[in-house]
Amino acid sequence: MQVKIVKTKEEMGQVAAMLIAEDMAKKSPYVLGLATGSTPVPLYEALIKLNKAGKLDFSTTITFNLDEYVGVKPTHDQSYRYFMNEKLFDHININKKNTFVPDGMAKDIDAHCAKYEAMIRGVGGVDYQVLGIGSNGHIGFNEPGSSIGSLTRMVKLTANTIKDNSRFFKRAQDVPTRAISMGIGTVLRCKKIVLVANGANKVDCLAKAIEGPITATVPASALQLHPGVTFVITEDAAAGLKLEW
Ligand code: GLP
Repeated sequence: MQVKIVKTKEEMGQVAAMLIAEDMAKKSPYVLGLATGSTPVPLYEALIKLNKAGKLDFSTTITFNLDEYVGVKPTHDQSYRYFMNEKLFDHININKKNTFVPDGMAKDIDAHCAKYEAMIRGVGGVDYQVLGIGSNGHIGFNEPGSSIGSLTRMVKLTANTIKDNSRFFKRAQDVPTRAISMGIGTVLRCKKIVLVANGANKVDCLAKAIEGPITATVPASALQLHPGVTFVITEDAAAGLKLEW
């Protein structure tokens, strides 16, 4: 596991984007796993810059997003599909037909989740997975207690996550309580992983994820089992680390 500590969130985005861009140059078609939340935005801005400068090509790239809210239409401005279009896909030369986000409106959610897993396997697996981290240590929407072998499935959001997300919805009753999420097992199958984090509210969960025991109560700690993980985190978020990285 590598931990890169940087000064600003802009630098965090650039460092993570370079890791991905260097790997993308080696393979086509390339399969990229993507995350939402505010943290990956500077990373997406850096990828857009590289693409506009002609240094990074997405024409054959296939993407899979980690998660989506259940019951939220893809056209809703808080859906993760909408977020991805707005923050990345609309600004790069990607074919949107090659971008996949779980369908929170699927009629048969279990069948949809099984199909999502099969689609990822069908293209040879994710080459690089982007992750953020929830303040309770969740990755994707794998809340504390999610098993390390879990695959894509419907999950219930914890009160903590619902509270974190409520700032994005106008009315409390609109905040989703369930989501579809790739599992921790799905994430561990990705060839490489980069987790980005910034801000003082991530100090505690990062210290536990990076230096604590591997435990289902801190889902991101499962990343210690993966041989190709890089954490790119800002100084303020790294304040709880005890070891020299
Ligand atoms: C949501 C997403 C996670 C993300 C988390 C943190 O819960 N499902 O993938 O890591 O938010 O969001 P932020 O980056 O805004 O702190």
